[in-house]
Amino acid sequence: MIAIRPEVVIGRIEPNIYGMFIEHLGRCIYGGIFDEGSPLSDAEGYRKDVLKACQRLAPPVLRWPGGNFVSGYHWQDGVGPRDKRPRRFDLAWFEEESNRFGTDEFLGFCRRLNTQPYICANAGSGTIEEAAGWVEYCNGWTNTHYANRRRRHGNSVPFNVPYWGLGNEVYGSWQIGHLDAEDYAKKALEMAKVMRWTDPNVRLVACGLGREEWDLPVLERMRGQAEYLSVHCYVGSPDYYRNVCAVSAMEEILERTKASIRQVYEVEDAAQAPVKIAVDEWNVWYRARGNERFAAADKLREVYDLSDALCVATFVHLFQRECRTVTMANLAQMVNVIAPILTTPESILLQSIYYPLVLLRHHSGPLAVQVEAEGDCVPEERAGAVACPYLDVAASLSEDGRKLYLSVVNRHQTEDIEEPVQVKGAALGDVRAWELNGPDVHAVNTFECPEVVSAREVQASLGQGVYVFPAHSHTVMEVALH
Ligand code: AHR
Repeated sequence: MIAIRPEVVIGRIEPNIYGMFIEHLGRCIYGGIFDEGSPLSDAEGYRKDVLKACQRLAPPVLRWPGGNFVSGYHWQDGVGPRDKRPRRFDLAWFEEESNRFGTDEFLGFCRRLNTQPYICANAGSGTIEEAAGWVEYCNGWTNTHYANRRRRHGNSVPFNVPYWGLGNEVYGSWQIGHLDAEDYAKKALEMAKVMRWTDPNVRLVACGLGREEWDLPVLERMRGQAEYLSVHCYVGSPDYYRNVCAVSAMEEILERTKASIRQVYEVEDAAQAPVKIAVDEWNVWYRARGNERFAAADKLREVYDLSDALCVATFVHLFQRECRTVTMANLAQMVNVIAPILTTPESILLQSIYYPLVLLRHHSGPLAVQVEAEGDCVPEERAGAVACPYLDVAASLSEDGRKLYLSVVNRHQTEDIEEPVQVKGAALGDVRAWELNGPDVHAVNTFECPEVVSAREVQASLGQGVYVFPAHSHTVMEVALH
């Protein structure tokens, strides 16, 4: 039984949970969203076909430039005339960086995509002065050096970049300039101060880990200084059930992070604290892992199957259900690098994981409502960590309360599940439904056969009070309420 109570609103779903991330890594930027001289690009170098595919994803926020890359990135290398910018060797991914795509190009892309920029500052090899200078370059209105440089580069009106990160994964030894928690907290606090003094409107993201040994000191020292604490989560397994149940790792990270927030802010419910959680990197990523640094071309080019798409849908469900504390999430990454969109110099491919992202972005409401699903579970020994239900469900409501959105993943590998759907306190009107599925759980899209796994509108009715959720599928519904 799926029991939905539209009158019990859990909270408001921030659109920023449908955010994305792009990094200078592999062919995400160069050869992905930006391909100067390509017949598929516009005069500025943006790939038009890629932009169109990104527009369907409609991310409300886009994080850049890293990732690990940012910990060695000096933003001044990437502004001014493109031909005069220095080429550098990037020690995060062992790649040559031309710097032809920099701050103005990123913000130009955001404008085309109609998305809010989220710039992660360099807390590795960067200084606090550099971070403040970057804020002035983007947002400054004064008659001073960096704001004037932006003006000279053709942008008289400030970009007003709203979101700024205080470094990336600074806790990790793989990070350029990695620090322990105390040292990071001190540096982040000083970065935050000068960035906010430069523009009081910025919203800052402190680097979190999802473990108390790091998060407690960071939250303590950053109390009142950052609007968000970030966490990252990558999951995945070649075993089908482990893969489609892998969201339990994200659940654990959120539980631990909320516990740290409760402790530091001395609140019973983490949602009462003024700091929110930004899951600013998440995805399935396990195949193209291992020798990323030294692999030649196409780094982190993960080919996604149907099981990955189902897993991705359950992550978005979780963010919707946790909307009181998770107010930003950024899929890592958007193009070519562990991404829903792949390109070649001549073409583009939408991978399986593209579809749940589009379905949930366009068929969800702003208000998360209570939904309970009773039913059988994937046994613990097959699911991996904990037993997980075959049906994973999220429900939301339109602002005016007249439309209900129901999203259901049937994780069962072989069986359709016929389930009663009960909507308490409302009479149901017209139903529209869309279904993502494919011939088998490991089916993938290829450039030769691009729509093996895809979503389509299906005939649906809840007239009999039951619905058949096909094996290994993701279904979203829009139901008129009376
Ligand atoms: O998204 C790929 C990498 O994963 C990012 O650069 C880093 O932040 C994370 O470890």
